Amino acid sequence: MEISGARIWVTGASTGIGAALAEELADRGARVAVSARNADQLAAVAGDRMVVVPLDVTDRTATVAAGDAVRRALGGLDVAVLNAGTWSQFHVEPWDSALFAAHLQVNVMGAVHTLEAVVPQMVAAGRGRVVGVASVAGYRGLPGSEAYGAGKAALLNLLEALRGSLAPQGVVVQTVSPGFVRTRMTDRNRFPMPFMVEPADAARTIADGIARDKAEIVFPLPMAVLMKLARVVPVRAWTAVTAAMSRRGLHGNPGD
Ligand SMILES: NC(=O)c1ccc[n+]([C@@H]2O[C@H](COP(=O)([O-])OP(=O)(O)OC[C@H]3O[C@@H](n4cnc5c(N)ncnc54)[C@H](OP(=O)(O)O)[C@@H]3O)[C@@H](O)[C@H]2O)c1
Repeated sequence: MEISGARIWVTGASTGIGAALAEELADRGARVAVSARNADQLAAVAGDRMVVVPLDVTDRTATVAAGDAVRRALGGLDVAVLNAGTWSQFHVEPWDSALFAAHLQVNVMGAVHTLEAVVPQMVAAGRGRVVGVASVAGYRGLPGSEAYGAGKAALLNLLEALRGSLAPQGVVVQTVSPGFVRTRMTDRNRFPMPFMVEPADAARTIADGIARDKAEIVFPLPMAVLMKLARVVPVRAWTAVTAAMSRRGLHGNPGD
């Protein structure tokens, strides 16, 4: 697709990957609207060249209204980037159902609410594009990533199903699965994070993938290869690997 001139909404754009992507897309000539909860940080990202629509994606009504506000401000919408997300390490003792629910609220229901805000209009128009930011952490179960990984696995499945459902309606669905990116999200991790990339590099890769109509944008390459291979490792062998990680205190996961 042609990014220059496209009207693009990026959620989770106050920091990290979303902020870098919004800037990259604006640099390439897109007309960009940015959303997240922190209005001040959004304004700093937007400067005078993006539309700011503060939003908590866990609020369904507010998210649908934000979609309307974005379409009004941009004169329509060509692409929605579902990027808002959260990560905390999960501990099995004490079991924390609230933390699990909070992850699903943002990482799954936040995406679902954003889809509700954009898909009906795209289907009615017979065109449009949804770009969902999942994670390679959704590829396999990893110790410490019970809440985050489960949500990202759900998102991967949701986006894959939607890609088929919406193709006949003229709506394109693209899935982004980053490995480790240096952001606020990964700054507090104390476990090894191999193949880490900077947000600006992640943003360039994602923008290139959008422009090239890639169904899947998985990066960086070594992490993509590692985690794609991990998908075919037999369960018994995977358990041996992850149990060893747990014993050594290497909780956490690639791409969280
Ligand atoms: N960094 C990585 O290694 C990595 C790897 C794989 C996937 N990802 C995914 O990439 C996406 C961006 O993450 P990041 O690394 O850039 O982390 P980040 O810097 O913490 O950014 C997360 C963004 O989501 C927003 N957000 C969080 N909760 C929200 C809510 N309830 N409503 C609206 N916005 C909300 C945050 O803004 P506010 O706090 O202002 O709301 C922020 O803009 C996430 O989906 C993450 O899971 C990251």
